[in-house]
Order: sequence, then structure tokens, then C-alpha cells
Amino acid sequence: MPVQGLALNVLVQGASRGIGLAMLRQLLARHSDGRVVATCRQPDQAEALQALAAGSGGRVRVIALELTDEASISAAAERSAEFIDELQLILNVGGFLHRPGQMPERRLAEVESANLIASFAVNAAGPLLVAKHFQRFLPRTGRAVFASLSARVGSIGDNRLGGWYAYRGAKAAQNMFTRCLSVELVRRHRGLICVALHPGTVDTELSRPFQARVAEEKLFSVARAASQLLDVIAALTVEDNGAFIAWDGQRVEW
Ligand SMILES: NC(=O)c1ccc[n+]([C@@H]2O[C@H](COP(=O)([O-])OP(=O)(O)OC[C@H]3O[C@@H](n4cnc5c(N)ncnc54)[C@H](OP(=O)(O)O)[C@@H]3O)[C@@H](O)[C@H]2O)c1
Repeated sequence: MPVQGLALNVLVQGASRGIGLAMLRQLLARHSDGRVVATCRQPDQAEALQALAAGSGGRVRVIALELTDEASISAAAERSAEFIDELQLILNVGGFLHRPGQMPERRLAEVESANLIASFAVNAAGPLLVAKHFQRFLPRTGRAVFASLSARVGSIGDNRLGGWYAYRGAKAAQNMFTRCLSVELVRRHRGLICVALHPGTVDTELSRPFQARVAEEKLFSVARAASQLLDVIAALTVEDNGAFIAWDGQRVEW
């Protein structure tokens, strides 16, 4: 499906694998021009991303960015300035639900300070600091999109199961930060649309330990999820600034 209104120059933060890599692949296919800054923690180990960049005719620059390290985010912005002068789309994709030694908490007794802090650093502070350091690339006028991948489990109003304290709390904080950005940034960047996006449940490393409970038709491939999210982004208008939107275009309650 041809998609109108998508950006030309793009930042894909979290492009090494999963949804971010699929979005990058589809952005290149949908647009025959424009440049993409693609970030991940360890570019040397991101083989699929490097292969995509190598075949992009110079349109993709892979840059290291560690979300828990503000100096790394600042340095990534400096390096991006050597490749692009403006970004019409900033995609914050990087995040984590589990990592070695940290699984989502089923009950209060499993909550640990270090795990809460780790989740907040990556899932909440990280995307906000990306906004801080990449804001300089946003156009003063004209359509631009700042989209952070959130999760429906970060909705406070929708929380009926409890648990997953670190991830739910961090995504709820990320949502608040996105909302704050939607108020502040439009003062300087008229035409900017800031949104939190829920991609659905997607077949990646992040969801793998929990897929047994998901109906087959509700588990999206990364290609399908990326396509749906890019369609949602293409359809955004200034009326959507500050909203939390799911893969099917429906609003998610905060
Ligand atoms: N999959 C789902 O069902 C689902 C559902 C709802 C929301 N989401 C959200 O969608 C986003 C993408 O998830 P995914 O399923 O594609 O996950 P994934 O396949 O596990 O990929 C995670 C991405 O985040 C990056 N990342 C993790 N920690 C990072 C850090 N400290 N600094 C920089 N980058 C870091 C990873 O880069 P490295 O290669 O460097 O580790 C990777 O690119 C996340 O924000 C997630 O919360 C996913």
C-alpha cells in the first residue's frame, strides 16, 4: 500500500533487531530517498543491521547509542550531525522487558530496586534523553513525528492484572514524558506530532517467554507489526499530538 506523508530523514533508535530493524527495512522500501540514522548498542555485533546498511546505497548510517548513558546519546547526536541536518521522523524503539537475571515481577515480593532502576533507565529516561539531544534536528515548521514505542501494559487505566512492576511503571513514565514533550516541543516545532505507540504483541526476543498465552492471530510478525506502525505514523495529524495510539490506529487510555 502506498503511504503518503512519511518522513524523509529518520532516526531509528533501537534498529539492531526486532521491531526496529523491521521498521528500518520497510522505511527504506517505502521511500526511495532520504537518510536514516540507525542506532544500537553494539554496531559491530548487529550483523543484520550492518547488512541492510551496506545494501542501502549510503542511505543508512549506523551509530552506537546506549540508552542508559547520556554521554553516549549526546555523542550519537553529534555523529548524526555529520550525516543529516534535519529529521522528520524520530522513532524511539529500544526497550526491554527481561534480561539475564531479570524477569517481570509476578508479585510484590519479587520487586528489586536495581531492576526497577534498570527498567526506568532504558524504557523511560532513555527515550526522553533521545528527545533532549536530537531535538536540534527537528524542523521549526512542517510535519514531523516523534514516536516512542510504548506498551499497552503501561496504561494505568487499562491495568487489571497487576504485576510487571518495573516494565509497567517505566512505560507509564515514558508515556508521561511523551505527553510532556507533546506540550513543550510544539512551541518551537510547529507541525510536530509526539505520540506513544503500542505495537501489539510481536514475535521478538522481548515477548518470547510469554508467547504461549497469546492466541496465534494476536501474535504479529515483525514485518506485520512494522507495516502497521508505519501506516499509523503516516496517518497521524496534529490532532494526534500527545496521544497514545495502538497498532490499529485506536487510542489507548492513559
Ligand atoms: N515485542 C512485543 O510484543 C512488544 C509489545 C509492546 C511493546 N513493545 C516495545 O517495542 C519496542 C521494541 O521491542 P522489540 O520487541 O523489538 O524488542 P527486541 O527484539 O528485544 O529489541 C530490543 C531493541 O532495544 C534495544 N535496546 C535494549 N536495551 C537497550 C539499551 N540499554 N540501549 C540501547 N538500546 C537498547 C536493542 O538493542 P541491542 O541489540 O543493542 O540490545 C534492540 O534494538 C520496545 O520498546 C518494547 O517495549 C514490544
